[in-house]
Amino acid sequence: MNGAEQPVLALAVDGLELRPWRAADAGALLAAAGDPGIRQWNLLTVPDRDAAEHRIARMRERWRAETGAIWALAPVDGGEVVGLVGWNDVDLAGGGAEIVYWLLPPARGRGLAVHAVERLTRWAFDDLGLHRLRLCHAVANEASCRVAGKAGYVYEGTMRGALLHADGWHDQHLHAVVRAG
Ligand SMILES: CC(C)(COP(=O)(O)OP(=O)(O)OC[C@H]1O[C@@H](n2cnc3c(N)ncnc32)[C@H](O)[C@@H]1OP(=O)(O)O)[C@@H](O)C(=O)NCCC(=O)NCCS
Repeated sequence: MNGAEQPVLALAVDGLELRPWRAADAGALLAAAGDPGIRQWNLLTVPDRDAAEHRIARMRERWRAETGAIWALAPVDGGEVVGLVGWNDVDLAGGGAEIVYWLLPPARGRGLAVHAVERLTRWAFDDLGLHRLRLCHAVANEASCRVAGKAGYVYEGTMRGALLHADGWHDQHLHAVVRAG
């Protein structure tokens, strides 16, 4: 990753692509932090535009440090960002990473998260050479559980009291997909 540009990845859906975040996307990140679902399930706290720009700059640093790879889901024609999908805890030596995602409300309800997760799963296996990919979500987040299953992430178990959300500790499902062969 270090030394290579983060690629733009085509998505065969709705005129959207996955591209690196830009400082000019700070407004979309602020909007996401103001959405109750994203705040609850992604624990996203972004108090102001400066913080949003800082977070976007951190994404670029994490790419160079080979620890994270975060994309904006956005129209190919340059319109506003509609979601985020990417990899946390990238471990190139250990061959693993954990996927994260959210969509702003207008982009929900048409299967976009599954498309984006499938695309980044192919990228992580084929381009990055990872071996095992994780997807974790609060048990109460049924939409995320559906995304996991439809994108091919197999349920492996429940991690008790795994994450502190605004309303207390939540159990999490662990899903994963392992590279064939
Ligand atoms: C989770 C999220 C990314 C799903 O994105 P999406 O592409 O809009 O997903 P869809 O609306 O196409 O729904 C996926 C599936 O979940 C189902 N679903 C949606 N909302 C649901 C709910 N509240 N309860 C149960 N199932 C639900 C849909 O019916 C669909 O199933 P189907 O394909 O079998 O019909 C999106 O809702 C979101 O950003 N939520 C807020 C943040 C979040 O939860 N992030 C994930 C943290 S792990």
